[in-house]
Amino acid sequence: MAADNHPTFSLFFVAAAVVSLLFAGGAEARFKGINPWCLTADYRFLCTKMVKGATTQEVAIANAVQATLNATTRMAPKLEGLVQAVAYLPELSKESVISTCRDSYDKVVENLNEALNFMKVNDDQSVLDRVDTAESSISDCLVALKEMGGNTESLAKTSRILYRYVSNAMAVATQL
Ligand SMILES: *[C@@H]1O[C@H](CO)[C@@H](O)[C@H](O)[C@H]1NC(C)=O
Repeated sequence: MAADNHPTFSLFFVAAAVVSLLFAGGAEARFKGINPWCLTADYRFLCTKMVKGATTQEVAIANAVQATLNATTRMAPKLEGLVQAVAYLPELSKESVISTCRDSYDKVVENLNEALNFMKVNDDQSVLDRVDTAESSISDCLVALKEMGGNTESLAKTSRILYRYVSNAMAVATQL
């Protein structure tokens, strides 16, 4: 079966080769510039920024957790904006939401700090546990606000951003 007798047949193979080359190239491009500890993260570019060129996993985790802590601290003023989001709620609901949100914020900061401390003593399981708790604490505030019928628009955005950080930190840490 000579190829020149079947031009469409060989064209098909050329096309298939080109397509598979494109796919291979695409996969490579997808991971280009991504830190090796961020390959399983959901937000790889952000993760790569977070780990700051780490070449060991220990440094990658410590940087990712620290970056998450930094991001959380930067978001603190947004919590003050919460007062507006609950302004029209009854007094009791208002107090309840604000206190839940304060607790939620404190819990995230506290657990991330604890994770950093457990990093220093190589207690991997506790590191994972604290990052995981921080991750689940992020949504507490939003859930409370939603339940009470407050305005969730601004807080939802803040929570989404923080969630990306902590989800990335978790992805880097679960490779332990
Ligand atoms: C966290 O913030 C501190 C102080 O601003 C800064 O020096 C540090 O580089 C930040 N760390 C990360 C991982 O972003």
